[in-house]
Amino acid sequence: MPIDLRSDTVTRPTARMREAMVRAEVGDDVLDGDPTVQALEARVAALLGMETALFFPSGTMANMTGLWLAGEPGTEVYCDARAHVLDWEIAGAAVFRGVQLRPIVARTAVIDADDVRAALRPPSRYAPRASALTLENTHNGAGGAVTAVDTLAATAAVAREHGLAVHLDGARLWNAHVATGTPLADFARVADTVMVSFSKGLGAPVGAALACAQARRDEAWEVRKRFGGGMRQSGILAAAALHALEYHLERLAEDHHHAREFAREVHGAGEARVVPPDTNIVMIDCPPGVTATDVVARARDGDVLLSPWSATRVRAVFHLDVSAADAARAAAIVAATVSDLAAAR
Ligand SMILES: Cc1ncc(COP(=O)(O)O)c(C=O)c1O
Repeated sequence: MPIDLRSDTVTRPTARMREAMVRAEVGDDVLDGDPTVQALEARVAALLGMETALFFPSGTMANMTGLWLAGEPGTEVYCDARAHVLDWEIAGAAVFRGVQLRPIVARTAVIDADDVRAALRPPSRYAPRASALTLENTHNGAGGAVTAVDTLAATAAVAREHGLAVHLDGARLWNAHVATGTPLADFARVADTVMVSFSKGLGAPVGAALACAQARRDEAWEVRKRFGGGMRQSGILAAAALHALEYHLERLAEDHHHAREFAREVHGAGEARVVPPDTNIVMIDCPPGVTATDVVARARDGDVLLSPWSATRVRAVFHLDVSAADAARAAAIVAATVSDLAAAR
């Protein structure tokens, strides 16, 4: 079996998770509710300190619904220039909600209050009005970077001063929580709508949730239905997410540890540069003259799967299915791969 570091979405449900899925009590969640889905929604709302939450088939659909609630058609939604909603969601916000995403280039890893303040345009009858700001924590494109809660709150506060709603893409908010010890609710408090995913490091096969105020729940439900996200006996999937929250949340610290050890070993190999990871994502900048495609292809020969992130950047992600021994072996193979390619230039 290759060591698969392409993403934390590649995890397979554990035997105990599958047992929990088999045992799940279910109902028709679109008709009159599924008890396991309801239990999951209540658990997520409580963890995030939000009034309510809805279960979704994917983070993308939950993000689109969040942006639907936050944004208004014909307006702009500000986001980080490397945000998942901008780079990887197939222009869904534009297609479905008719909003234009306006990217803000961060001066450091991830946008902060000063970046947002500098980007906001004064009202003008010639420019689109802004309706919302979307934030991402941890930040996938920035190598799993954590935005500390004070920075996140200050950034959101600038948006609010200008009358903007705030959405938080917290696909990996779990990782931010475990890495910093900051309660999930402290992060969630900064936003009106918060998306969290169960199918990344938590290891569930499918699913995400969108948390919001009770007053917006009916609208969120309707948008989810419109997107085709009304699921029937979805308690089978919700059971996996509940199991993941119970047993796989605190262990994310192990993934962070593996990522740090891997980064330490690969940094400097053949002059590769590795940004020390905050969480479970490691970005490797190839040595001059070595391409990401070369590194990915050569590592695959050594049974380590990586993702090319750009022409010269490779991504490695640590998760539930990567043991300490796997992480150490992958580090040795990737370091040797990069050194060999650099030597052969
Ligand atoms: C930061 C972030 N947001 C949203 C998503 C979308 O989640 P999904 O793949 O469940 O649609 C991802 C997926 O990798 C992500 O990394």
